Amino acid sequence: MILLLTYLLSGMAIAAAKPLDKRLDNGLGKTPALGWNSWNAGQCNFATAQRALQAADLFISLGLKDLGYTYVNIDDCWSTKSRNSSGYLVPDPQKFPNGIKAVSDQIHAKGLKFGLYGDRGTQTCAGYPGSLNNEEKDAKTLASWEVDYWKYDNCHTTNENSHTEYEKMRDALANSGYKVFYSLCNWGRDNVWTWGGKVGNSWRITDDNFNSWNYVATIAAKGASIAQYGGPGGFNDWDMMQISNGKLSAAEERAHMGLWAIGKSPILLGMDLTKISQSSLAIVKNKGLIDINQDALGKPATTFRPSGAPAPSSKLYPYWAGPLSDGVVVGLVAADNAVTLSVNFTDVPGLGAGTFSWTEMFSGKTGSGTSVSAQLSLHDMAVFRVKKV
Ligand SMILES: *[C@@H]1O[C@H](CO)[C@@H](O)[C@H](O)[C@H]1NC(C)=O
Ligand SMILES: *[C@@H]1O[C@H](CO)[C@@H](O)[C@H](O)[C@H]1NC(C)=O
Repeated sequence: MILLLTYLLSGMAIAAAKPLDKRLDNGLGKTPALGWNSWNAGQCNFATAQRALQAADLFISLGLKDLGYTYVNIDDCWSTKSRNSSGYLVPDPQKFPNGIKAVSDQIHAKGLKFGLYGDRGTQTCAGYPGSLNNEEKDAKTLASWEVDYWKYDNCHTTNENSHTEYEKMRDALANSGYKVFYSLCNWGRDNVWTWGGKVGNSWRITDDNFNSWNYVATIAAKGASIAQYGGPGGFNDWDMMQISNGKLSAAEERAHMGLWAIGKSPILLGMDLTKISQSSLAIVKNKGLIDINQDALGKPATTFRPSGAPAPSSKLYPYWAGPLSDGVVVGLVAADNAVTLSVNFTDVPGLGAGTFSWTEMFSGKTGSGTSVSAQLSLHDMAVFRVKKV
């Protein structure tokens, strides 16, 4: 009995630590999604054709498209409150006067992709029709509109087991005849990271990134603990960005971008792009960070403990590292106070003894040696791209 129990427990431990071996193979999400979503910018008020087309134009004029930002995603509130008499979802005629297809056509003509939002329950979070028991029909409708990204939320559910219903929509999308990036939004319930990769291209790992430093820090700490589940085809989704939404300091905006980038989260901007500040724009346009986020290896960074450093807890930890196709990324975060943080490369997973060259992504500073250090103000971050000399 005890032997059997020991055997079962060790089996479970192995299963829990093992990254997903089989992934949704729809050809999408080889690197984390880059784009914008309407929700944080203006909730229901931004679920309009005008805002979608405006965001697409700004992707181009602000230089975001050139950096890889691709998805223009409309969140909750885009449809009428009820299906039509044949049971189909109907775009709100005030918000989408020419329907959805006209918008997705115009966005495609700009070389970008268009996303929409739905829910696995009877209603969306804002009370619009959900897709429960209409999965096939809705997937066909999305395909007819050439919708490229489908965020699938978790409100008004009748079944606690989200797994089954997320799979139902996965299969409906797969049979719809159009390729859709499938974004699971069950807020990290049901240990979604252990099965998300077989079902979707990304999966939310926590409740929403409400607009404050505490949410940024808490989500990043969670992301570090489940980093091994992300990989090409499916990534942990740390939720949409809150940069340029009035609640984060410049230092906190750098850490928000830096952590999401090295953690290989989708980066879905969440500000009103017509009002973005120059300093926030520079942060989200940091090419070095985007290149790290989009690195073909697709391995999320996680925390490591340098010799002499305090043990990690469930809180945001200062020391991060992860492999890149041509080296290692090292992140240092001033999680609790202004501080100078140093790491010797011998302590960094994937590095070791010897001399390495580095570039810091926010300052552009370069150097080489056996260690790096950064003098950081409260909640600021430095991100080093490190290579063998
Ligand atoms: C409901 O919407 C679908 C899809 O747009 C359409 O084909 C159908 O004709 C509509 N039904 C009615 C009764 O308007
Ligand atoms: C890093 O550690 C190595 C091995 O202990 C040591 O030789 C080197 O001097 C250290 N570098 C710094 C900058 O402390």
